[in-house]
Amino acid sequence: MSLRATGIRSVRDLDVDGRRVFCRVDFNVPMKDGAITDDTRIRAALPTITHLLERGARLVLCSHLGRPKGKVVPALSLEPVAARLAELLAGGEVRLTDERAGDGAKRVVGDLRDGQVALLENVRFDPREKADDEGFARELKALADVYVNDAFGAAHRAHASVSALPRMVGERGAGLLLEKEIQALSALRESPGRPYVAVLGGAKVSDKIGVLEALLTRVDALLVGGAMANTFLAAQGKSMGGSLVEDDKLPLARSLIDRAGDKLVLPVDLRLGDGLDATVAETWETDGVPADRLALDIGPETAKHYAERVRKAESVFWNGPMGLFENPTFAAGSVAVAEAIAACPGFTVVGGGDSVAAVKAAGVADRVSHVSTGGGASLELLEGKRLPGMEALR
Ligand code: 3PG
Repeated sequence: MSLRATGIRSVRDLDVDGRRVFCRVDFNVPMKDGAITDDTRIRAALPTITHLLERGARLVLCSHLGRPKGKVVPALSLEPVAARLAELLAGGEVRLTDERAGDGAKRVVGDLRDGQVALLENVRFDPREKADDEGFARELKALADVYVNDAFGAAHRAHASVSALPRMVGERGAGLLLEKEIQALSALRESPGRPYVAVLGGAKVSDKIGVLEALLTRVDALLVGGAMANTFLAAQGKSMGGSLVEDDKLPLARSLIDRAGDKLVLPVDLRLGDGLDATVAETWETDGVPADRLALDIGPETAKHYAERVRKAESVFWNGPMGLFENPTFAAGSVAVAEAIAACPGFTVVGGGDSVAAVKAAGVADRVSHVSTGGGASLELLEGKRLPGMEALR
């Protein structure tokens, strides 16, 4: 679906010259010991940022980082992000405000000249952000003549900077990243080439009930991996030993298996370990897992079969790793899926932090048609839900 068909304006059509443009971005990047470990989300916002700066906007960037629960958490300051962004803008200055809104932020924004950038401190330091509070949105509005949303990863959150604020700003639209994400995911949702194969992994069935139900009505095959597969196998009466199984989801898993028929494809073998940091794995059938062993990856037969289905597909969507891929002993299943996606000549989309990390670790990210910056947002869009961040732009 084109952006025009959604009734949302593009940033290209907004009048931004000399105006304060409030741009919600998703700079929720992974951090370790105060350093950014992957700057993909910052880079992904650069086309919109550069577009706005070249057109003389006074740019006010706003993002969340982590989940500080409405309190100031110094370790979740956007300071490292401001520094990284300045580097990526070839040494351009990025002024980080101390406050998210209010007089401090107004002063910094008031001093901006055309083509200069300010970054508001982590918007989730204020509890009113997650509450979609109108009063907080009004404070943010005092910093904005124009509103642009380029935060696809946060578009499924009805939060003040994503939802209440844009409704208050007449001149508003979607950034270039948001536009690209909507196009790629709408193509899968509305007119996927067939066969359409989805690969779903991750820890829990409970996180993905909506998307499982929705995808089963749309795809030709849904290949399940990760700990989520354990719950389905247990629902078939198989004994999974010490593996993670959601006992309270067994009836749901049984009902999904009954309804899906042979569309729902489960592992035929597993890789077991004796703990999450195991350095030895043994291949096992999908039953009779010993009590002191856990299933931590799909097995080699399953990986081969999944890879074949993926390679022959016309459309592929992948969310969630096939196992505990951050431990190299249990990465093979996810790497096999990543490589098959890279080899698939059809339209391929990967979404969600861990599966994106897996395609990167396998060195094949540039051979995927679209690597989404949104995990939850891409799932909700595929499920057919309306995203608050898109609704507020219409
Ligand atoms: C993400 O990382 O998926 C987005 O930035 C949204 O973050 P959240 O799940 O904390 O709302």
